[in-house]
Amino acid sequence: MEKEKIIEVKDLIFGYEKDSTILKCISFDIFKGEYVTLIGHNGSGKSTLAKLLSYILEPTSGKVYIEGQELNEKSIKDIRSKIGIVFQNPDNQFIGSTVEDDIAFGLENRNIKQDVMKKTVLEFAKKVGMDKFLNKEPEELSGGQKQRVAIAGILALNLKIIIFDEATSMLDPEGVEEIRKLILNMKEENPELTVISITHDIEEAYLSDRVIILNDGKVYKNDIPENVFKDEEEMRKIDLDIPFVLKIKNELAARNIIIPREIKTIEGVANYLCQ
Ligand SMILES: Nc1ncnc2c1ncn2[C@@H]1O[C@H](COP(=O)(O)OP(=O)(O)O)[C@@H](O)[C@H]1O
Ligand SMILES: [Mg+2]
Repeated sequence: MEKEKIIEVKDLIFGYEKDSTILKCISFDIFKGEYVTLIGHNGSGKSTLAKLLSYILEPTSGKVYIEGQELNEKSIKDIRSKIGIVFQNPDNQFIGSTVEDDIAFGLENRNIKQDVMKKTVLEFAKKVGMDKFLNKEPEELSGGQKQRVAIAGILALNLKIIIFDEATSMLDPEGVEEIRKLILNMKEENPELTVISITHDIEEAYLSDRVIILNDGKVYKNDIPENVFKDEEEMRKIDLDIPFVLKIKNELAARNIIIPREIKTIEGVANYLCQ
């Protein structure tokens, strides 16, 4: 079956100021149902790109298409019902006066009955572990809790495409894993859900379908994780590391122990070796 393009980015150029270009001719496609990670060191333009994909920023030149529809002033309303972002800083995203209001916010202009909405809000608050905090105000929450609320608010909208911009950066490792599993579960329930995750977590990138690396304002790599992280030296040159489990696999390969490509976790490697 031919993969269906859901996002097409074509020759995108962007600068905040006239004489400085942050993104220099970016092109790539995202396919329906993919889980793509976008990585690159701080300041490489990841958040800027995320904002261009949802028309929070307007490109200097180049185009973005969502399901074949060009992103512009006219189409934005339509497209906003398909794509959503969880922003890097949860404070910029918290709009409601309480957790409950905030999760409900996006649902409010969708003509949903009050009781259905209340149920949906509770359901998603539960999914992110915030159902005991529905009446709390943002001042009473930690950064990580605000991130959980932001994630619930986006997930509740049942969008086709979600961009997570370092959306779990303030959670502890267990929290990060919990949210990652939640998103994977939602993808399992709805295989057409397309996810772009902007992350510093190389291990997460290794588990995604495809990795796009931004470097120096350009797409430096755009490939399956195995290929992207193949060359440790090359990754170091752009200040990126390779996944821990891949290091172990490389060490083993140097001793002629080849672990199959589909094994992507330390537990998997351990099980394989103990067979
Ligand atoms: N609102 C802004 N005005 C001017 N420059 C900005 C603004 N936001 C980001 N930048 C600059 O754009 C570059 C890319 O930033 P950003 O997209 O946030 O990168 P990343 O998310 O990869 O860390 C950085 O040099 C940053 O300082
Ligand atoms: Mg960023």
